[in-house]
Amino acid sequence: LDAKTLLNKLKKEHSLTLDEYRYLLEHRDCESMEIAAGYAKEFQNQYYGNQVYIRGLVEFTNFCRNNCLYCGIRRDNQNCQRYRLNKQEIVDCANEGYDMGFRTIVLQGGEDFAYSDDDICDIIRSIRSAHEDLVVTLSIGERSRESYRRYYDAGARRYLLRHETASPELYAKLHPAELSWEHRMNCLKDLKEIGYQVGAGFMVESPGQTMRDLAMDLKFVEEFKPDMCGIGPFITHQDTPFANEPSGTLETTLFCLSLIRMIYPMVLLPATTALGTIHPRGREMGIMAGANVVMPNLSPASVRKKYALYDNKICTGEEAAECLECLKRRMESIRYQIVTDPGNRAGL
Ligand code: 5AD
Ligand code: FES
Repeated sequence: LDAKTLLNKLKKEHSLTLDEYRYLLEHRDCESMEIAAGYAKEFQNQYYGNQVYIRGLVEFTNFCRNNCLYCGIRRDNQNCQRYRLNKQEIVDCANEGYDMGFRTIVLQGGEDFAYSDDDICDIIRSIRSAHEDLVVTLSIGERSRESYRRYYDAGARRYLLRHETASPELYAKLHPAELSWEHRMNCLKDLKEIGYQVGAGFMVESPGQTMRDLAMDLKFVEEFKPDMCGIGPFITHQDTPFANEPSGTLETTLFCLSLIRMIYPMVLLPATTALGTIHPRGREMGIMAGANVVMPNLSPASVRKKYALYDNKICTGEEAAECLECLKRRMESIRYQIVTDPGNRAGL
């Protein structure tokens, strides 16, 4: 085995064995990172040019029934100041986003059953009736297939649900027993079957994650082919059971971004806020490694700090317009351009 040979094979065949992915991850060095980023940029350029898609993120509730060990808004965190936006506030955020040039809005929240299916459908319909060219993406966790169907019928067309890890054993170490890897995978399957463009994704270097686990995530992307794949480093949150665990690294995350672009060249790949949090130019480096999406925050500034999944999250003090301007400048600094476009996956 040799990294250069494997990268050339991946570039041609978009597929490696689990052991080959693991070999690449375990032998990552400056040279293999550069080669992978170069190939990744060829594919990124082929399908998306120098355009970067934006999604306006509305973090509408930080109440969550779940207790994931890594997450700052887990239900046992008593230090989390909880908030909920009402329907009007959510719709207002979406409309402001539209005026700023966003054509995709992501409604993201903890698993908060204070919002019924009717509430969620109402919100989707209100947003869609104001702007028929605004794509509504949901990111509200595990719900029933029937609920997913209802949201689709109300007009939602994309759904983000990170698989978190493709390893059932690691999944069990990161989550309490009440959550199951099988259930999550079934949700992803349901979403795809209903017709959503689906976003999966995982954390890089979460506590206990081995390079074999990470290789399994790459294999999962190869096989499931999510339309989008959100990946970012695990980042410590002080009020969780993982308070003393180290955060993931910039290097491994960037390498994973490049490999994913090579595995599935048309995939939508965000340079995540978590990546921007572990390094001041993390998102720019993410784009240079093959990412093509950024997801600035549209939530009211008053609630931003409270949606703290991890420590030191960036952009919690800014207004939406400031964030967008900041990102435009950042992308221009690396000769990329933010565009007003729904930003569908290439090939759809
Ligand atoms: N560090 C990095 N990412 C996190 N997420 C949750 N907690 C953390 C953390 N401590 C990610 C999960 C989740 C997404 C919304 O945020 O992958 O799916
Ligand atoms: Fe939010 Fe820079 S992107 S302040």
